[in-house]
Amino acid sequence: MNRSGEELKKVFIKTYGCQMNVYDSERMTDALAPLGYTPVAAAEAADLILLNTCHIRAKAAEKVYSELGRLRHLKAAAAAEGRVVVVAVAGCVAQAEGTEIVRRAPVVDLVVGPQSYQRLPELVEEAGSGRPVVATDFAVAEKFAVLDRPTATSRASGRVAAFLTVQEGCDKFCTFCVVPYTRGADVSRSVRAIVAEATRRADEGVRELTLIGQNVNAWHGEGPDGSTWDLARLLFRLAEIPGIDRLRYTTSHPLDMNDALIAAHRDLDVLMPYLHLPAQSGSDRVLGAMNRRHSRADYLRLVERIRSARPDIALAGDFIVGFPGESAADFADTLSLVEEAGYAAAFSFKYSPRPGTPAASAEQVPAAVKAERLARLQALLDRQRVAFMRSRVGTVAEVLFERRGRHRGQIVGRSPWLVPVQLTAAPELIGTISRVDIEQAGANSLFGALAGARTAAAAAAVAVSG
Ligand code: SAH
Ligand code: SF4
Ligand code: F3S
Repeated sequence: MNRSGEELKKVFIKTYGCQMNVYDSERMTDALAPLGYTPVAAAEAADLILLNTCHIRAKAAEKVYSELGRLRHLKAAAAAEGRVVVVAVAGCVAQAEGTEIVRRAPVVDLVVGPQSYQRLPELVEEAGSGRPVVATDFAVAEKFAVLDRPTATSRASGRVAAFLTVQEGCDKFCTFCVVPYTRGADVSRSVRAIVAEATRRADEGVRELTLIGQNVNAWHGEGPDGSTWDLARLLFRLAEIPGIDRLRYTTSHPLDMNDALIAAHRDLDVLMPYLHLPAQSGSDRVLGAMNRRHSRADYLRLVERIRSARPDIALAGDFIVGFPGESAADFADTLSLVEEAGYAAAFSFKYSPRPGTPAASAEQVPAAVKAERLARLQALLDRQRVAFMRSRVGTVAEVLFERRGRHRGQIVGRSPWLVPVQLTAAPELIGTISRVDIEQAGANSLFGALAGARTAAAAAAVAVSG
């Protein structure tokens, strides 16, 4: 491989896990550009292969090792042709397992934790020289300082929607969760840095920003006046940026949903009616054991208040079934919470014991019980998703057109509720927002037509039903 920095080198990044990894992968691509690396879509073509990993459940972490097994052959084949391939593991598995990764998978040249990405260029250079390098220090403030440099953010060009990290880490220590260990303590970026990045995005053509953080509504950044702002105040400030027409934030903890943020859902029209507010369980006993620090009633009351501020809000959630000690009655409480709250979308998981977390050492619920509970919960959540999708039919939605669809003549946009909308319309509309008559609900998409341009079929259907 050419290490002179003149010849173009290729980097392949595979991203696992949450939105923050998606965002970090883009930042890593930016950070490597000055070394001459351009991104490629296949590992086979790359000089540097970077796995940006997730440690949240055992399955997520295991995937990384099976991928590394595959890469061993790829690296050997490249070596036979005289090519050096550097294999790097980043993300939460890197942070959690550190040197253990190099021991288990000697194919790995570099292990780099999420708080060390600002050092990526030097680390990659170092890893290329033969000895494995492991960097898992916590220096999140430094990481943000590098992210804040204008040159470090340029990959959003041509896109209409982007993520923006405002907060990283978590101090909540839910007893099932690795995030406080892999991402460290809760750190917020400053208003100045966030506004600067949002403005650059707007200049690049981004119309919709999703603020991300492991605990995004716990964001408490320094304002320009030196005082500490909350997320609601930040959202109002970002709404003033010309070109930013839509805002979202994810993922939120019920404890940090303050009055101002709920009021923003009523008063700030660019704040989209979608809220990812994990409940995890509907049983007070289990919530207590999880250290969630809110009750079932607190959660339901919160949902009610949010709905009265923004009646059409699409509520999304996360649930864990089979947490240690979860009885049949506890699980029934989760089902009834889901019935009462009503979700447009939700993610649900079987509890997975994670090394180093308090719940991992407790007595486990049998696998078959977890599987059966998950199936029942998912069936209920599926029914709710279908009902939500159907409830949109007959409404008019403001849609931000994002990209061409799979079929000729089709474009795909983002509805206020995050669900994609497909329609037949000119690709020139991409990057603009228009009103769309929602005519049909599919499993994962809505279908419609530009308002005022109803299809003949829909018009006929309306005529028949009317
Ligand atoms: N920061 C977010 C979510 C973090 S992880 C929050 O606090 O809500 C995303 C989801 O993974 C969690 O909401 C939880 O439902 C699930 N999860 C986390 N740890 C898990 C574990 N050990 N087993 C199963 N699911 C888990
Ligand atoms: Fe994990 Fe709980 Fe923090 Fe969410 S709030 S990241 S579930 S510890
Ligand atoms: Fe996974 Fe780390 Fe995100 S564990 S969910 S990649 S914060």
